[in-house]
Amino acid sequence: MLLQVNQLQVTYRQIGRPPLRAVRGISFELNAGQSLGIVGESGCGKSSAAKAIIGLQTEFDGEIRFEGKSVHKMNRAERIQYRRSVQMVFQDAVGSLNPHMTVRQTLEEVLRVHRMVPAGQIPKRISELLELVSLPERVLAAYPREISGGQCQRVSFARCLALNPRVILADEPVSALDVSVQARILNLLRTLQKELNLAILLISHDLAVVRTICDRVCVMYKGQFVETGTTTAVLETPQNDYTKSLLAAVPDVNRSLDAGRGALRAS
Ligand SMILES: Nc1ncnc2c1ncn2[C@@H]1O[C@H](COP(=O)(O)OP(=O)(O)OP(=O)(O)O)[C@@H](O)[C@H]1O
Ligand SMILES: [Mg+2]
Repeated sequence: MLLQVNQLQVTYRQIGRPPLRAVRGISFELNAGQSLGIVGESGCGKSSAAKAIIGLQTEFDGEIRFEGKSVHKMNRAERIQYRRSVQMVFQDAVGSLNPHMTVRQTLEEVLRVHRMVPAGQIPKRISELLELVSLPERVLAAYPREISGGQCQRVSFARCLALNPRVILADEPVSALDVSVQARILNLLRTLQKELNLAILLISHDLAVVRTICDRVCVMYKGQFVETGTTTAVLETPQNDYTKSLLAAVPDVNRSLDAGRGALRAS
Protein backbone atom coordinates (compact mmCIF):
# COMPACT_ATOMS: atom_id res chain seq x y z
CA MET A 1 0.00 0.00 0.00
CA LEU A 2 1.39 3.36 -1.02
CA LEU A 3 -0.46 5.74 1.30
CA GLN A 4 -2.48 4.78 4.34
CA VAL A 5 -4.30 7.27 6.50
CA ASN A 6 -5.61 5.87 9.74
CA GLN A 7 -7.97 7.75 12.06
CA LEU A 8 -6.43 11.12 11.17
CA GLN A 9 -7.46 13.96 13.46
CA VAL A 10 -6.43 17.57 13.13
CA THR A 11 -7.27 19.92 15.99
CA TYR A 12 -6.46 23.63 15.97
CA ARG A 13 -5.76 25.04 19.41
CA GLN A 14 -6.88 28.63 19.63
CA ILE A 15 -6.14 31.15 22.35
CA GLY A 16 -9.23 32.03 24.39
CA ARG A 17 -11.46 29.69 22.42
CA PRO A 18 -12.16 25.98 22.56
CA PRO A 19 -10.02 23.85 20.24
CA LEU A 20 -11.42 23.44 16.75
CA ARG A 21 -11.62 19.82 15.64
CA ALA A 22 -11.24 20.24 11.88
CA VAL A 23 -10.61 16.58 11.01
CA ARG A 24 -12.26 13.99 13.23
CA GLY A 25 -10.81 10.60 12.46
CA ILE A 26 -10.70 9.87 8.75
CA SER A 27 -9.18 6.75 7.23
CA PHE A 28 -8.42 5.73 3.68
CA GLU A 29 -5.89 3.91 1.53
CA LEU A 30 -4.43 4.78 -1.83
CA ASN A 31 -2.32 2.67 -4.15
CA ALA A 32 -0.26 3.50 -7.22
CA GLY A 33 -2.43 4.15 -10.26
CA GLN A 34 -5.54 4.78 -8.16
CA SER A 35 -7.47 8.00 -7.75
CA LEU A 36 -9.49 8.94 -4.72
CA GLY A 37 -11.67 12.00 -4.38
CA ILE A 38 -12.52 13.80 -1.17
CA VAL A 39 -15.58 15.90 -1.62
CA GLY A 40 -17.40 18.14 0.82
CA GLU A 41 -18.56 21.64 1.51
CA SER A 42 -16.35 24.56 2.44
CA GLY A 43 -14.86 24.27 5.93
CA CYS A 44 -15.45 20.51 6.32
CA GLY A 45 -11.72 19.91 6.82
CA LYS A 46 -10.46 18.84 3.38
CA SER A 47 -7.42 21.12 3.26
CA SER A 48 -6.59 20.44 6.89
CA ALA A 49 -6.37 16.74 6.06
CA ALA A 50 -4.29 17.52 2.97
CA LYS A 51 -1.84 19.65 4.95
CA ALA A 52 -1.30 16.86 7.45
CA ILE A 53 -0.65 14.41 4.63
CA ILE A 54 1.98 16.54 2.92
CA GLY A 55 3.64 17.49 6.18
CA LEU A 56 2.60 21.16 6.37
CA GLN A 57 0.58 20.35 9.46
CA THR A 58 2.81 18.28 11.71
CA GLU A 59 0.52 18.13 14.72
CA PHE A 60 -2.13 15.52 14.21
CA ASP A 61 -3.46 12.39 15.85
CA GLY A 62 -3.76 9.08 14.11
CA GLU A 63 -1.35 7.69 11.62
CA ILE A 64 -0.14 8.45 8.13
CA ARG A 65 1.88 5.68 6.52
CA PHE A 66 3.82 5.88 3.30
CA GLU A 67 4.95 2.55 1.84
CA GLY A 68 4.12 1.00 5.18
CA LYS A 69 6.17 3.41 7.29
CA SER A 70 4.55 5.86 9.68
CA VAL A 71 5.61 9.45 8.90
CA HIS A 72 6.19 10.02 12.61
CA LYS A 73 8.80 7.26 12.64
CA MET A 74 10.72 8.33 9.55
CA ASN A 75 14.34 9.34 9.81
CA ARG A 76 15.60 12.44 8.02
CA ALA A 77 16.42 10.73 4.74
CA GLU A 78 13.07 8.92 4.67
CA ARG A 79 11.24 12.14 5.42
CA ILE A 80 12.98 13.94 2.56
CA GLN A 81 12.05 11.09 0.24
CA TYR A 82 8.47 11.17 1.49
CA ARG A 83 8.20 14.93 0.99
CA ARG A 84 9.34 14.47 -2.59
CA SER A 85 7.10 11.52 -3.24
CA VAL A 86 3.90 13.27 -2.18
CA GLN A 87 3.45 16.49 -4.10
CA MET A 88 0.66 19.00 -3.79
CA VAL A 89 -0.97 21.10 -6.49
CA PHE A 90 -2.89 24.09 -5.27
CA GLN A 91 -5.99 25.93 -6.37
CA ASP A 92 -4.22 29.22 -6.99
CA ALA A 93 -1.73 28.15 -9.63
CA VAL A 94 -0.61 31.69 -10.46
CA GLY A 95 -0.11 32.55 -6.79
CA SER A 96 1.79 29.34 -6.07
CA LEU A 97 4.49 30.28 -8.60
CA ASN A 98 7.22 32.80 -7.85
CA PRO A 99 6.23 35.96 -9.81
CA HIS A 100 9.89 37.00 -10.17
CA MET A 101 11.00 33.80 -11.84
CA THR A 102 10.47 32.71 -15.43
CA VAL A 103 9.08 29.25 -16.08
CA ARG A 104 12.59 28.06 -16.98
CA GLN A 105 14.02 29.42 -13.72
CA THR A 106 11.21 27.81 -11.71
CA LEU A 107 11.88 24.38 -13.20
CA GLU A 108 15.66 24.80 -13.08
CA GLU A 109 15.50 25.72 -9.42
CA VAL A 110 13.53 22.68 -8.33
CA LEU A 111 15.76 20.32 -10.33
CA ARG A 112 18.91 21.94 -8.93
CA VAL A 113 17.88 22.29 -5.29
CA HIS A 114 16.73 18.69 -5.11
CA ARG A 115 19.63 17.47 -7.26
CA MET A 116 17.23 15.52 -9.43
CA VAL A 117 19.57 15.29 -12.45
CA PRO A 118 23.22 16.24 -13.10
CA ALA A 119 23.55 19.95 -14.00
CA GLY A 120 24.32 19.17 -17.63
CA GLN A 121 21.03 17.33 -18.05
CA ILE A 122 18.79 20.07 -16.65
CA PRO A 123 17.79 21.53 -20.07
CA LYS A 124 16.89 18.09 -21.40
CA ARG A 125 14.82 17.30 -18.31
CA ILE A 126 13.02 20.65 -18.59
CA SER A 127 12.06 19.79 -22.16
CA GLU A 128 10.73 16.42 -21.03
CA LEU A 129 8.69 18.03 -18.27
CA LEU A 130 7.19 20.54 -20.69
CA GLU A 131 6.22 17.73 -22.99
CA LEU A 132 4.57 15.80 -20.16
CA VAL A 133 2.31 18.75 -19.38
CA SER A 134 1.85 19.76 -23.06
CA LEU A 135 3.39 23.21 -22.85
CA PRO A 136 5.33 24.77 -25.74
CA GLU A 137 9.03 25.64 -25.26
CA ARG A 138 8.27 29.33 -25.70
CA VAL A 139 6.63 29.58 -22.24
CA LEU A 140 10.06 28.98 -20.69
CA ALA A 141 10.98 32.65 -21.04
CA ALA A 142 7.67 33.88 -19.61
CA TYR A 143 6.83 35.03 -16.10
CA PRO A 144 3.68 33.61 -14.48
CA ARG A 145 1.71 36.82 -15.13
CA GLU A 146 2.48 36.52 -18.84
CA ILE A 147 0.79 33.12 -19.27
CA SER A 148 -2.78 31.96 -18.70
CA GLY A 149 -4.17 30.40 -15.51
CA GLY A 150 -4.38 27.02 -17.24
CA GLN A 151 -0.76 27.30 -18.37
CA CYS A 152 0.29 28.27 -14.84
CA GLN A 153 -1.45 25.16 -13.54
CA ARG A 154 0.49 23.10 -16.10
CA VAL A 155 3.73 24.71 -14.88
CA SER A 156 2.88 23.78 -11.31
CA PHE A 157 2.23 20.21 -12.44
CA ALA A 158 5.62 20.22 -14.21
CA ARG A 159 7.29 21.51 -11.05
CA CYS A 160 5.74 18.64 -9.06
CA LEU A 161 6.66 16.06 -11.66
CA ALA A 162 10.28 17.25 -11.58
CA LEU A 163 10.53 15.49 -8.22
CA ASN A 164 9.30 12.13 -9.58
CA PRO A 165 6.38 11.97 -7.16
CA ARG A 166 4.35 8.83 -6.46
CA VAL A 167 1.29 10.67 -5.14
CA ILE A 168 -0.22 13.92 -6.34
CA LEU A 169 -2.51 15.62 -3.93
CA ALA A 170 -4.55 18.15 -5.82
CA ASP A 171 -6.54 20.58 -3.67
CA GLU A 172 -9.22 22.18 -5.87
CA PRO A 173 -6.81 22.17 -8.84
CA VAL A 174 -9.28 23.55 -11.34
CA SER A 175 -11.78 25.61 -9.38
CA ALA A 176 -10.05 28.88 -10.29
CA LEU A 177 -10.13 28.05 -14.00
CA ASP A 178 -12.96 28.42 -16.47
CA VAL A 179 -14.87 25.33 -17.48
CA SER A 180 -13.22 24.55 -20.82
CA VAL A 181 -9.76 24.92 -19.29
CA GLN A 182 -10.89 22.80 -16.32
CA ALA A 183 -11.67 19.88 -18.61
CA ARG A 184 -8.26 20.07 -20.27
CA ILE A 185 -6.39 20.21 -16.97
CA LEU A 186 -8.40 17.24 -15.64
CA ASN A 187 -7.62 15.38 -18.84
CA LEU A 188 -3.93 16.10 -18.26
CA LEU A 189 -4.16 14.83 -14.70
CA ARG A 190 -5.74 11.61 -15.91
CA THR A 191 -3.13 11.12 -18.64
CA LEU A 192 -0.29 11.70 -16.18
CA GLN A 193 -1.84 9.25 -13.78
CA LYS A 194 -1.86 6.54 -16.43
CA GLU A 195 1.54 7.31 -17.95
CA LEU A 196 3.39 7.62 -14.66
CA ASN A 197 1.24 5.25 -12.60
CA LEU A 198 0.62 8.04 -10.10
CA ALA A 199 -1.74 7.89 -7.18
CA ILE A 200 -4.08 10.86 -7.18
CA LEU A 201 -5.84 12.34 -4.20
CA LEU A 202 -8.22 14.95 -5.50
CA ILE A 203 -9.94 17.37 -3.20
CA SER A 204 -12.92 19.25 -4.48
CA HIS A 205 -16.28 20.64 -3.57
CA ASP A 206 -17.34 19.89 -7.15
CA LEU A 207 -18.86 16.47 -7.75
CA ALA A 208 -18.46 16.78 -11.50
CA VAL A 209 -14.69 17.23 -11.12
CA VAL A 210 -14.39 14.22 -8.83
CA ARG A 211 -16.48 12.12 -11.17
CA THR A 212 -14.25 12.94 -14.14
CA ILE A 213 -11.09 11.68 -12.43
CA CYS A 214 -11.73 9.46 -9.44
CA ASP A 215 -12.35 5.73 -9.12
CA ARG A 216 -13.45 6.12 -5.51
CA VAL A 217 -14.83 8.99 -3.50
CA CYS A 218 -15.11 9.86 0.17
CA VAL A 219 -17.80 12.34 1.15
CA MET A 220 -16.63 14.52 4.01
CA TYR A 221 -18.92 16.35 6.39
CA LYS A 222 -17.84 18.24 9.52
CA GLY A 223 -14.47 16.54 9.68
CA GLN A 224 -15.65 12.99 9.05
CA PHE A 225 -16.27 10.72 6.11
CA VAL A 226 -19.98 10.06 5.98
CA GLU A 227 -19.88 7.92 2.86
CA THR A 228 -17.18 6.09 0.90
CA GLY A 229 -17.42 3.98 -2.21
CA THR A 230 -16.83 3.80 -5.92
CA THR A 231 -17.60 7.10 -7.56
CA THR A 232 -20.40 5.59 -9.59
CA ALA A 233 -22.05 4.01 -6.56
CA VAL A 234 -21.79 7.09 -4.37
CA LEU A 235 -23.04 9.49 -7.02
CA GLU A 236 -25.73 7.27 -8.46
CA THR A 237 -27.07 5.52 -5.38
CA PRO A 238 -26.04 7.68 -2.42
CA GLN A 239 -26.89 6.14 0.94
CA ASN A 240 -26.18 9.03 3.25
CA ASP A 241 -28.52 12.00 3.68
CA TYR A 242 -25.70 14.51 3.46
CA THR A 243 -24.46 12.98 0.19
CA LYS A 244 -28.02 13.19 -1.13
CA SER A 245 -28.27 16.85 -0.19
CA LEU A 246 -24.90 17.54 -1.79
CA LEU A 247 -26.10 15.93 -5.01
CA ALA A 248 -29.41 17.74 -4.84
CA ALA A 249 -27.57 21.05 -4.42
CA VAL A 250 -26.02 20.61 -7.86
CA PRO A 251 -28.96 19.85 -10.10
CA ASP A 252 -26.81 20.42 -13.15
CA VAL A 253 -24.18 17.85 -12.19
CA ASN A 254 -25.06 15.63 -15.13
CA ARG A 255 -25.24 18.48 -17.55
CA SER A 256 -21.91 19.96 -16.53
CA LEU A 257 -20.43 16.48 -16.67
CA ASP A 258 -21.57 16.02 -20.22
CA ALA A 259 -20.17 19.43 -21.09
CA GLY A 260 -16.93 18.38 -19.41
CA ARG A 261 -16.82 15.10 -21.34
CA GLY A 262 -17.45 16.93 -24.58
CA ALA A 263 -14.60 19.29 -23.86
CA LEU A 264 -12.38 16.37 -22.89
CA ARG A 265 -13.02 14.71 -26.20
CA ALA A 266 -12.37 17.97 -28.01
CA SER A 267 -9.07 18.69 -26.28
N1 LIG B 1 -4.66 27.32 10.82
C1 LIG B 1 -5.91 27.24 11.31
N2 LIG B 1 -6.20 27.65 12.55
C2 LIG B 1 -7.45 27.56 13.05
N3 LIG B 1 -8.52 27.08 12.36
C3 LIG B 1 -8.29 26.66 11.11
C4 LIG B 1 -7.00 26.73 10.50
N4 LIG B 1 -7.09 26.25 9.22
C5 LIG B 1 -8.38 25.89 9.05
N5 LIG B 1 -9.11 26.15 10.16
C6 LIG B 1 -10.54 25.85 10.36
O1 LIG B 1 -10.70 24.45 10.23
C7 LIG B 1 -11.91 24.13 9.55
C8 LIG B 1 -11.59 23.33 8.30
O2 LIG B 1 -10.87 24.15 7.38
P1 LIG B 1 -10.29 23.59 6.00
O3 LIG B 1 -9.51 24.67 5.38
O4 LIG B 1 -9.62 22.30 6.26
O5 LIG B 1 -11.64 23.34 5.18
P2 LIG B 1 -11.87 22.98 3.65
O6 LIG B 1 -12.77 21.81 3.62
O7 LIG B 1 -10.56 22.86 2.95
O8 LIG B 1 -12.67 24.26 3.10
P3 LIG B 1 -12.65 24.97 1.64
O9 LIG B 1 -13.50 24.11 0.75
O10 LIG B 1 -13.27 26.28 1.90
O11 LIG B 1 -11.22 25.06 1.20
C9 LIG B 1 -12.58 25.48 9.24
O12 LIG B 1 -13.52 25.72 10.25
C10 LIG B 1 -11.43 26.46 9.31
O13 LIG B 1 -11.90 27.73 9.69
MG1 LIG C 1 -9.68 23.92 1.33
